[in-house]
Amino acid sequence: MLELEHTTKTHDEARQGEALELLPTGKSTGRKLYIESYGCQMNFSDSEIVASILVGNGFETTKDYKEADVVFINTCSIRENAEQRVRNRLKEFESAKNRNPGMIVGVLGCMAERLKSKFLEEEKLVDVVVGPDAYRDLPNLIGKVDDGTKAVNVLLSREETYADINPVRLNSNGISAFVSIMRGCDNMCSFCVVPFTRGRERSRDYQSIVKEARELFEAGYKEVTLLGQNVDSYKYTAPVAEGETATPTVNFAHLLAMVAEVSPELRIRFSTSHPKDITDEVLYTMARYDNICKYIHLPVQSGNSRVLDLMNRTYDREWYMERVEAIRRIIPACGISTDVITGFCTETEEEHAETLSMMDYVKYDFAYMFAYSERPGTLAAKRYEDDIPEQVKKRRLTEVVNKQQEHSLFRLQNFVGKVHKVLIEGFSKRSDQDYCGRNDQNTMVVFPVDSRFKPGQYVHVLAERCTSATLMGRIVDL
Ligand code: SAH
Ligand code: SF4
Ligand code: F3S
Repeated sequence: MLELEHTTKTHDEARQGEALELLPTGKSTGRKLYIESYGCQMNFSDSEIVASILVGNGFETTKDYKEADVVFINTCSIRENAEQRVRNRLKEFESAKNRNPGMIVGVLGCMAERLKSKFLEEEKLVDVVVGPDAYRDLPNLIGKVDDGTKAVNVLLSREETYADINPVRLNSNGISAFVSIMRGCDNMCSFCVVPFTRGRERSRDYQSIVKEARELFEAGYKEVTLLGQNVDSYKYTAPVAEGETATPTVNFAHLLAMVAEVSPELRIRFSTSHPKDITDEVLYTMARYDNICKYIHLPVQSGNSRVLDLMNRTYDREWYMERVEAIRRIIPACGISTDVITGFCTETEEEHAETLSMMDYVKYDFAYMFAYSERPGTLAAKRYEDDIPEQVKKRRLTEVVNKQQEHSLFRLQNFVGKVHKVLIEGFSKRSDQDYCGRNDQNTMVVFPVDSRFKPGQYVHVLAERCTSATLMGRIVDL
């Protein structure tokens, strides 16, 4: 899935755990919740649902785990190092728990789902383990821990989409927000743990999605990112009540159009697109609406058809290239980013070279790049030997990273001298003399503050210089 940070760091490593501070909406219990998130945007979005459920149950939130009554860590299993980071973090919570034995420590998310009750044996300080489809049960599970028993709920659901839960926006800039449109994944890519940790794919009622986007816009938000592991397979058919006629099934292209219609002032982004499922209808819909950002995250994983087949990606090199051609034809200015895995089982040097040549073909604007990490229980772990030595995986990764560095620079250099419509997100990280925001293609743009404009407004910025990650320029009047 697309990341917030436009860096070359890897998926989970790019994101520090985040915390939040909120007051209860229900009857206050005076208890304090701390929650920290790792992994993809889906997890960050889920933490907003968790916070909403607990704030509704009288909790208030804190940004300091040391003063919390309940400490939650929303975890990621995608690669081994993602899990290692969580375990290290749990060790840090240990001394706080020793000082305050009443403190409840909970593990949520993908690692909870993967390890289930084993977590309680492996990490003694953990009191509660809750999978991604069981968050409505949290108040009850916390009650059990209060009564002195450890609690686990890792049931996956075929229906749960949390459609009716109004997420509380954590650490939000009040300008951009995530909106989950579906959960789970039915794809079974052989390297991937997500289908096991998040269960079957299900789409959320489009009416609740459009309503959430409208409410965000009315609250001053200017950008929504629609989230799913494979947004192109979004599909919702409203249940038919007795005596009513069935309404047509809504696909992702329809959904995009409906959200875009909320207001021309609301920018729409989405992630992740799957190369096998992205349709021309989606591309034409993107082309039709100015407020749908011209940016597609289209993970390739490998440029070689044999490896793609082993990965069970269900497309080959030619298919992927045809989809890129379709994007270039229908949306000529579209930014394209990707995910790449190096050193997948049995990958040869020639096959790795095809990944590099695919990168040359597309010249991605941006990429998340990973060395293959075998995950227990996946098809690849069962069927293939993880036979590429670590240093070979790493060397191939370095080659991929270096190539991407060149392409990112190439793309940004092409943006220099052009005027970009930028949504101001706030002050730049480096200086409060500068604003930062993104152009349509999701590139970070930095420019001097102009007192006529505030965060949340659109400005036109002439790009004058760049690095491989950032455009620098100045506001111009059109
Ligand atoms: N649903 C998204 C991917 C979600 S996981 C998609 O299909 O594109 C994000 C990325 O992590 C994947 O695209 C892949 O590049 C990487 N990844 C997943 N499992 C991995 C593994 N076992 N080892 C290394 N990288 C992995
Ligand atoms: Fe994993 Fe593949 Fe599903 Fe993406 S599409 S979440 S890589 S199984
Ligand atoms: Fe996301 Fe990590 Fe789970 S990438 S879906 S939090 S395994």
